[in-house]
Amino acid sequence: MKNIVFLTGAGMSAESGISTFRDSGGLWEKYPVQQVASIEGYYQDPELVLRFYNERRRQLFDCQPNEGHRLVAEMEKMFNVTVVTQNVDDLHERAGSRNVIHLHGELLKATSSKNPNDSRCICTLTKENPDISIGDKAADGSQLRPFIVWFGESVPMMEDAALATLKADIFVIIGTSLNVYPAAGLINYVKPGAKIFLIDPKTVAYPHGLDVTVIKKGASEGMKELLEMLSE
Ligand code: OAD
Repeated sequence: MKNIVFLTGAGMSAESGISTFRDSGGLWEKYPVQQVASIEGYYQDPELVLRFYNERRRQLFDCQPNEGHRLVAEMEKMFNVTVVTQNVDDLHERAGSRNVIHLHGELLKATSSKNPNDSRCICTLTKENPDISIGDKAADGSQLRPFIVWFGESVPMMEDAALATLKADIFVIIGTSLNVYPAAGLINYVKPGAKIFLIDPKTVAYPHGLDVTVIKKGASEGMKELLEMLSE
């Protein structure tokens, strides 16, 4: 079976009712990114940051995967599929994708403020117990925080993502503005000769010289078109 890698961003989950970040009306218009998505912002006002992620987590329980997520999962019938996502939601998993790499962490997990990547400290939050509050402790005794990769922090899953991308025969980008590194740089790991597709309703800039087939549609419609193209 051929290897297919999907790189997905906020646009993948837009049709599920989750806001993107940089579109007009996006999350970063309402909440300053430095305040709620940087390590400095967390130390300045942990309570505000915990509340922001608590709200987003509660919203996520009411969202469902969309047709786009389902079609990505269905590709497993035909390909070895790796989903590399910048999204912190679990909609790829809920749609049935079995191999998902979360570059920017997972909203439904909490971890230690002292050692965020210590697997012994990572725990799962549930619908019955969705919030993190000041005073909640991780296994190492430090304040519990969201398991999110903030600006200013390392991206430990990047190596796995790069290794999968190097092996890709087909690389598909869906719903990301390609503004945030290192995720946006993954396209440079695609081997020569591999096919690259980009699904997004807006024009997205990608590195010059790459042969990219652009499908200018939303995630669900774009995935349907991709399936048609791949079965030709
Ligand atoms: P952006 O908000 O930057 O980009 C969203 C992209 O989705 C844009 O290119 C939109 O045109 C596209 N889009 C909108 N609706 C869509 C639809 N229905 N179907 C497909 N695409 C659609 O979000 P990201 O690129 O994901 O990180 O942002 C990357 C990172 O920046 C995020 O992971 C987050 C943020 O700061 C952290 O918080 C660490």
